[in-house]
Amino acid sequence: MASIAIELPHHRYDVVIEAGGLERLGETVRAVAPHRECALFSDGAIADSLGVRARDALERAGYRVALGRLEPGEEHKTLETVRDLYDLLLGTRLERRAPVIALGGGVTGDTVGFAAATYLRGVPFVQCPTTLLAMVDSSVGGKVGVNVPQGKNLVGAFHQPVVVVIDPLVLGTLPVRELRCGLAECIKHAAIRDASLLDLIERDRAPLLSCVPDVLTELVRRNVAIKAAVVMADERESGVRAHLNFGHTFAHAIETTVGYGELLHGEAVALGMIAASALARRLGMCGGEVPVRLREVIAAVGLPTSAELPSDERLLAAMSLDKKVAGGRLRFVLPERLGSVVVRDDVAAGDVSAAWSEIRA
Ligand SMILES: NC(=O)c1ccc[n+]([C@@H]2O[C@H](COP(=O)([O-])OP(=O)(O)OC[C@H]3O[C@@H](n4cnc5c(N)ncnc54)[C@H](O)[C@@H]3O)[C@@H](O)[C@H]2O)c1
Ligand SMILES: [Zn+2]
Repeated sequence: MASIAIELPHHRYDVVIEAGGLERLGETVRAVAPHRECALFSDGAIADSLGVRARDALERAGYRVALGRLEPGEEHKTLETVRDLYDLLLGTRLERRAPVIALGGGVTGDTVGFAAATYLRGVPFVQCPTTLLAMVDSSVGGKVGVNVPQGKNLVGAFHQPVVVVIDPLVLGTLPVRELRCGLAECIKHAAIRDASLLDLIERDRAPLLSCVPDVLTELVRRNVAIKAAVVMADERESGVRAHLNFGHTFAHAIETTVGYGELLHGEAVALGMIAASALARRLGMCGGEVPVRLREVIAAVGLPTSAELPSDERLLAAMSLDKKVAGGRLRFVLPERLGSVVVRDDVAAGDVSAAWSEIRA
């Protein structure tokens, strides 16, 4: 078992990574949030499989479990779903010290986390991620929230979990396309903090994509360590936490213009990282080997390196609507070398257009 401590000014918690750890969920939760009751909210796609195992584990540890399931899919990451969660919590009169547990991917974690942050002004929240993306990225760091018609993740809060329970074995049923999307965020972590992780991902891609437990566990551990270090340095994203947005200024423009569903988030991030590194190269910030190597590893794991894209004008317009625009300027996270990035907000539109052409099919 590996355990990574997240130490923040006002809160500390562990990320527990253990093959088979789902069976010990009850004990792990009990150690940080003892109570007679708890609420378990599962992604509907896994409620009858992993959800049942999680419920049994919680009951074995003595919890009375209120159960809820969320309709799967990004389109259900809404205030309406949060409202349903409140109804269940209020219906069972769940008390302020009783833990609320999210079992699912980033959609479930973000939505349930927002309900946990606001129900009775905040109750203990447990993340039990079941996608690779949620394990290495969304479950750690305390950002929770939902989408509104005006845009993604525009309503939310910071609500750190009391514990994160990661059992890499649950990835056995995850579609390989979703697994690859998690790898895109792992490649991002490598690109911003640890170039040697790129070599590991490339070398171990076959066992990773076929979910060999030891290899997955080690990948998750190394990535959680990177995410943890970034979050500990800057909990509220006033500085280096922005580095986690590497590739995302481009990715969000792709997602909003190409349409959600067409390309998954991780696929858009893969394209975005290639574009961002091409932009950095063009600006003379890094050598040509940086975009070449990133493209190589992205292709090696089976993520896209190009896509049919709308016009530059539409893409630029979408970028300007992004949350990462500060004071009217576009902000880009750009590599200086593999493993190190900086934030720039002085990039000319012509250079951005040239970067788009690098990934246009
Ligand atoms: N809070 C943060 O810091 C943060 C960071 C990154 C991303 N996010 C958010 O995360 C979301 C994306 O998360 P995601 O990629 O996990 O998507 P997701 O939660 O939609 O899960 C992807 C798909 O996998 C299915 N699934 C989940 N676990 C499974 C399993 N073990 N076996 C089989 N199927 C399974 C789900 O039903 C879904 O269809 C986005 O909404 C994004 O905004 C949040
Ligand atoms: Zn992302």
